[in-house]
Amino acid sequence: MVSVTRAAFGELPSGLGTVERFRLRSEQLRVDLLSWGCAVAALEAPDRRGSAADVVLGFAGLEGYLQKQPYFGAVVGRVANRIAKGTFTLDGKEYRLAINREPNSLHGGLRGFDKVLWTPQVLPNGVQFSRVSPDGEEGYPGELKVWVTYTLDGGELVINYRAQASQATPVNLTNHSYFNLAGQGSPNIYDHEVTIQADEFLPVDETLIPTGVIAPVQGTAFDLRKPVELGKHLQEFGIDGFDHNFCLQRSKDRHFCARVHHAGSGRVLEVYTTQPGVQFYTGNFLDGTLKGKDGAVYPKHSGFCLETQNWPNAVNEPHFPSVLLRPGEEYNHTTWLVFSVA
Ligand code: BGC
Repeated sequence: MVSVTRAAFGELPSGLGTVERFRLRSEQLRVDLLSWGCAVAALEAPDRRGSAADVVLGFAGLEGYLQKQPYFGAVVGRVANRIAKGTFTLDGKEYRLAINREPNSLHGGLRGFDKVLWTPQVLPNGVQFSRVSPDGEEGYPGELKVWVTYTLDGGELVINYRAQASQATPVNLTNHSYFNLAGQGSPNIYDHEVTIQADEFLPVDETLIPTGVIAPVQGTAFDLRKPVELGKHLQEFGIDGFDHNFCLQRSKDRHFCARVHHAGSGRVLEVYTTQPGVQFYTGNFLDGTLKGKDGAVYPKHSGFCLETQNWPNAVNEPHFPSVLLRPGEEYNHTTWLVFSVA
């Protein structure tokens, strides 16, 4: 049984509307969703003794979400991740996007899908959010109709993304939740054991754009095919964290992506997806300056993201899986977040 309740969360400035909060409850999970950015604002999951903790980073009120902040819980688009120099050529025409993370365009530009009010519709076991991204929004071609549907089923939160375009456009949608399975506000994720089902990853240049090489993980710090304890692993390889795309199975069937286990609490998060990639980001740019829920501050490495998606900069790399959506086609991807204890 899932219940869904709805309440006002805050007022946008200048009469731009009311942001609502939707609370989904199953026997195992409680999930709060916002109509601002389709954000997951809270996710309570039990530990092995049955005691619940909120495992996603976020803010107590709307002001937190409206300030400059790194996409906490939000859906990002029209194109998640980086597009090199914010340019691409499509059907012979060059497009120039907003450059919001010099010298590249990141997560849809200056005002991406995370910074808009979506239209909610309550479902028996979840919420569907929709919006129309107008032709030319942030420099992208054509109008794009988008539906993001969150449903809850026991310990499983399912996120489905659908889109239809009036003109050919790149589309890449994901959710940007930062997790800490010890409970949000815990100082780091070093005691988390991580597995990612990827034989290959994408090395990046100094601006975090993939070089174009599809590199085997074998013998590198990127080999996470067997569980590694994150803190030890980073130390062993002398690296400062992950912010990379791991290449998953390319089939559009549901496939296993990743598993994260927090031994202290017993909490486990398993991720399954229809997407060909996942950006594993270890909160490298968090710096402790944001004021989070329950007095939390979020230092570097205090949360991790598993952003299931197409490969970064795919619009400029013909040998990457195609990121283009054409009129008459439908973009349709699903990611399953499965919580349990072990
Ligand atoms: C990117 C990071 C970026 C973060 C927040 C992640 O998806 O990979 O490089 O800092 O989002 O903006």
